[in-house]
Amino acid sequence: MYQTIKPLLFSLEPELAHDQTVRALRLAQSLPPVQRAVEALFHHEDPILATECAGMSFINPFGMAAGFDKRAELLAGLSALGFGHVEVGTITPQPQPGNQPPRMFRLPEDNALINRMGFNSVGMEVAARNLQNGASRRLMPTIRLGINIGKNKLTTNEHAVDDYLLAFDRLALLGDYVTINISSPNTPGLRQLQERNALEHLLNALMARNRQLPAPLPLFVKVSPDETPTQLDDIVQAALGSGISGIIAGNTTLSRENLRGAARGETGGLSGRPLTEHARATIRHLYGATHGKLPIIGVGGVMNAQDAYGHIRAGATLVQVYTALVYHGPGLVKTLKRDLAALLRRDGVQSVREAVGTEFEG
Ligand code: FNR
Repeated sequence: MYQTIKPLLFSLEPELAHDQTVRALRLAQSLPPVQRAVEALFHHEDPILATECAGMSFINPFGMAAGFDKRAELLAGLSALGFGHVEVGTITPQPQPGNQPPRMFRLPEDNALINRMGFNSVGMEVAARNLQNGASRRLMPTIRLGINIGKNKLTTNEHAVDDYLLAFDRLALLGDYVTINISSPNTPGLRQLQERNALEHLLNALMARNRQLPAPLPLFVKVSPDETPTQLDDIVQAALGSGISGIIAGNTTLSRENLRGAARGETGGLSGRPLTEHARATIRHLYGATHGKLPIIGVGGVMNAQDAYGHIRAGATLVQVYTALVYHGPGLVKTLKRDLAALLRRDGVQSVREAVGTEFEG
């Protein structure tokens, strides 16, 4: 069916197409019979895909990556599409408009997107209200909710910790885990927070706050796929030293290689097919450097189940997608789950958990 709608959506400016999709999901989840019909169509679980990460159970390893549901309002709709978890955000403390449109571009020849959204955010108060009002959370006991937080553009890196703490304090208890996003390429200077001292300071401050909660949450840090092996090793040291739960690898890339799409010259972060190998190399390095001690959520260029399996074999416990949803539509997760389960069975693997890091076994 998506093949019929796709030309229509692709005839719209990409951000408008995104907004229409969000509207459709919002409408679907507000009408119980429609929500149930979508669920019946897309939500099939196979026990071979049930897994665990950082002490949390997941019905399947697939998650909606951050950036799709920035307002934190689509949990029920995305759950109906079959995701095992949804990461909302990035949410900043204060509302901010993000960059001037156009700021999202399709590269159909490359199965890719370039975006320079720049953390357009409704701010933590509206996001918190959306999450609290979304009776959806209570109705969706099987889906895990990640809350991805960032700093406002006008906050200097010197004061970045204050922003992350504000967002953490307001939002943490509304989700199952929190992601500290320091790797968007579209907020000037943000990636400098990945530098060892800055990162230690940030992670230690957030973990200190986290430990004060009655039930501390798993914290993840989301890193860029453009880091060198040495920079990744520094990130691993900071992560292990702080006691956070895991690493999300990773965000969009600034690299541009062999692209054909007319929009290839646009400034911003590249996602989709050209990112697969970059993301996998980052996952592989992190898994090797942590000896599997820190769970990794693999994101970047997962366009089909083979890609997901590759990320899992390189060390990812969970896998998130964004760009593939734009190119393959709402049936994506169902197909990913069916095909990944088939790949596992082909290889005689009993559970997706067993496949994590198997690339390292030779
Ligand atoms: C993103 N991504 C993103 N990541 C994040 O941590 N916070 C954000 O606000 C956003 N915003 C965002 C907007 C758009 C339009 C895109 C395409 C992506 C990055 C996203 O979560 C993911 O890391 C990358 O897109 C790589 O995955 P895919 O798209 O190759 O599956």
